[in-house]
Amino acid sequence: MDQAPAAEAITDAALFELRVGALAAGGGCVGRAPDGRVAFVRHAAPGELVLARVTQDSAHFVRADAVQILETSPERVTPACPHAGPGRCGGCDWQHLSRKAQRHFKAELLATQLRRLAGIEREPVVEELPGAPDGLGWRTRVRFAVDRDGRIGFRRHRSHDIELVEDCPVGLDEVRAIASSLARWRGAREMEITSLGPGSMPLVAVSTRDGARRRSSNQPTLPVGLSGVGLVIDGRSVAGPDHVVASVHHRRFRVSAGSFWQVHLAAPTTLVDAVIDALGPREGERAVDLYAGVGLFTAFLAEAVGERGSVLAVEQDRGAASDARANLADLPNAVVRSQRVDPYLLAEHLGGADLLVLDPPRQGAGLATMQALCALEAPPRRVAYVACDPASFARDARVLIDAGWRLGELRAFDLFPMTEHVELVAVFESARGT
Ligand SMILES: C[S@@+](CC[C@H](N)C(=O)[O-])C[C@H]1O[C@@H](n2cnc3c(N)ncnc32)[C@H](O)[C@@H]1O
Repeated sequence: MDQAPAAEAITDAALFELRVGALAAGGGCVGRAPDGRVAFVRHAAPGELVLARVTQDSAHFVRADAVQILETSPERVTPACPHAGPGRCGGCDWQHLSRKAQRHFKAELLATQLRRLAGIEREPVVEELPGAPDGLGWRTRVRFAVDRDGRIGFRRHRSHDIELVEDCPVGLDEVRAIASSLARWRGAREMEITSLGPGSMPLVAVSTRDGARRRSSNQPTLPVGLSGVGLVIDGRSVAGPDHVVASVHHRRFRVSAGSFWQVHLAAPTTLVDAVIDALGPREGERAVDLYAGVGLFTAFLAEAVGERGSVLAVEQDRGAASDARANLADLPNAVVRSQRVDPYLLAEHLGGADLLVLDPPRQGAGLATMQALCALEAPPRRVAYVACDPASFARDARVLIDAGWRLGELRAFDLFPMTEHVELVAVFESARGT
């Protein structure tokens, strides 16, 4: 029998033509390389015919960048940032898609992940946040890499190389103004600029190349243009405040350099409203806020349950927990524990609570913690799960659903325009009732 001719070998940097299909989580659009392997093609839009260049060649798949668009999707737009594109900044993967298409594709991707990983059948709508209809000017915190000559930039995709920039258009105007006014800062390795808008004192947190050794020697010379800001170098406060102050509704939150805070200007208010809506707290109830950060949800829950109720906030990062204590000082019914969330903590502190917030980092709460929640004799009546990774969320959700919890409303928010990322707020009800 005649042998089929060997497929053309596809190796690093090879070019090939293909028509791509749907967007896949983390990997661009899915297609087939000429040798039959699955190809994940970045910088393409679903349905496009593209010329792709291989960037990673592995046994079962290839990664590639669309370097030339041969048939263009109607959803394609010119990127607002000149640094977006093959081989350039690794930050905004979806600059080439219209904002409407971004939300449509995020919803499609989310529906697929929920179905495949948790058997959840939903048709989510990805809600836009107020204030940045063009997807630009929303980021309150931007972390730049700094090269050996003191120039700022961003890491390229899957690389340590730095794409040098003068500006980042997804940043808030105040963040961009500081970035563009900075002179070169030799000796810096990373620089994080945070500003919460006009009237709030910005914060610049720098890590230097020689790190801790610098502490005992002379302070580095401050770059030109860096005045009127708080400055933290290698974790040590050098000038001005060591934190920013954020406003959410009528409350103020201190957020120190290393503490978690949602980066989209409108995110904290949007998520607080969604979580409070999802839980429907009642006067006198007991709530627990796990992975509490600087106490964002704790504060509004503590107000809602009133003096007869209580909220326990659990946060493992000491700096964030200390911010939370300061932020909740006027709420005697809120207690902060600086502790790791694990199954023992749940068994010890969660029994009898009425409401629970789970807002874990990207990897999710994990099987053991979710099983500990399901094993409680007196489970909370409602859980609000806030998630930045749909796949981790789906795995955790599966544990609750298998144990008989009911998934209620599931909302998705476009907290990270120009990227594939999406934030979820889902509510689960236990058999104990609503
Ligand atoms: C996604 S943030 C949420 C923070 C807060 N809920 C908010 O919205 O601002 C996750 C938080 O969990 C904390 N964290 C991560 N792993 C933890 C663990 N095992 N136990 C307790 N806290 C943890 C992180 O320090 C971070 O503050």
